[in-house]
Amino acid sequence: IRNTINSRLNENGEYDFKDLNLSKEYLKSINKIYIVACGTAMHAGLAVKNTLEKLCKIVTQVEVASEFRYRDPLVDSNSLCIFVSQSGETADTLAALNLCKLHGAKTLAITNVIGSSITRAADYSIFTHAGPEIAVASTKAYTCQVTLLTMLAIHLAEILESCDSQLIETLKLNVLSLPNKLQECFNKNLDLVQDFSSKVYEESDVFFLGRGVDYTTALEGSLKLKEISYIHSEAYPAGELKHGPIALIEDGTTVISIMTDKNLTPKSISNTQEVITRGAKTLIITNDDLSNSNFDTVINIPEIHPYVSPILAIVPLQLLSYYISKNK
Ligand code: M6R
Repeated sequence: IRNTINSRLNENGEYDFKDLNLSKEYLKSINKIYIVACGTAMHAGLAVKNTLEKLCKIVTQVEVASEFRYRDPLVDSNSLCIFVSQSGETADTLAALNLCKLHGAKTLAITNVIGSSITRAADYSIFTHAGPEIAVASTKAYTCQVTLLTMLAIHLAEILESCDSQLIETLKLNVLSLPNKLQECFNKNLDLVQDFSSKVYEESDVFFLGRGVDYTTALEGSLKLKEISYIHSEAYPAGELKHGPIALIEDGTTVISIMTDKNLTPKSISNTQEVITRGAKTLIITNDDLSNSNFDTVINIPEIHPYVSPILAIVPLQLLSYYISKNK
């Protein structure tokens, strides 16, 4: 993440995306941003959708590449199309990119691999500099994708002058604080994560809940658990649980709830209480003080703006998947 951030700062510490050649006039002509990707890379898009919309005031749609490429999407020269791919080689993402080019849209690739196919096909490319992903599970690629997309959103908003400059400064400081906060989060929580993993590794189903941006962290946490531990898991927006899936929560079911947006935490707490009533075991990832609660395990992540919190909140979940898999 240090490398990702530094790759986009000039010697004065300012954001530097000059290579993208994005003028205010061009950005003003954009009425939609598409982020197209697969799997974890698509989740990185979801994590930044709200930030882009709030900062730039442009409708942002996140699309699964394998669906997007076959659905004749309404893309034109007023669309900015962003393609996120660790490898830069995912066939559906590449096909979606070529389709957007045919429709006259500007295409921007975010990949980890210089010279990859997606990079070569796109009008512009920026790189996550995450280092090679050795195993199949995308972990550091995800956190670096979210970091770079967030920096891009801040940069676009600066050009567009579309939001309060104080918010821009706050977010820039939050981005700069990420490497140290991640280290803190890692050091503080490793024992708790290991301990919780030893309690749940024999489970057959795990549920993830979150609201707002925490729902996207829930989706990614759930994908990682399935992928490396072979445990069935589902992620739900916390408020959706009562519309059916709560029927699956029974005595001893593991429910992981993510609460990093203080405006939404009281609501998520109340949803989590509903599953406790049904006998669920709970793990909470939060930056609030929930020490006096009746949750089984609470993992505290450092204080951070909700636009950036997915980058911290996912790390205990990545580690949890790892330790569950190791225990199994
Ligand atoms: O190389 P890509 O980022 O395009 O790969 C996309 C997905 O296949 C990938 O993110 C997949 O979901 C991960 N292996 C999950 O950990």
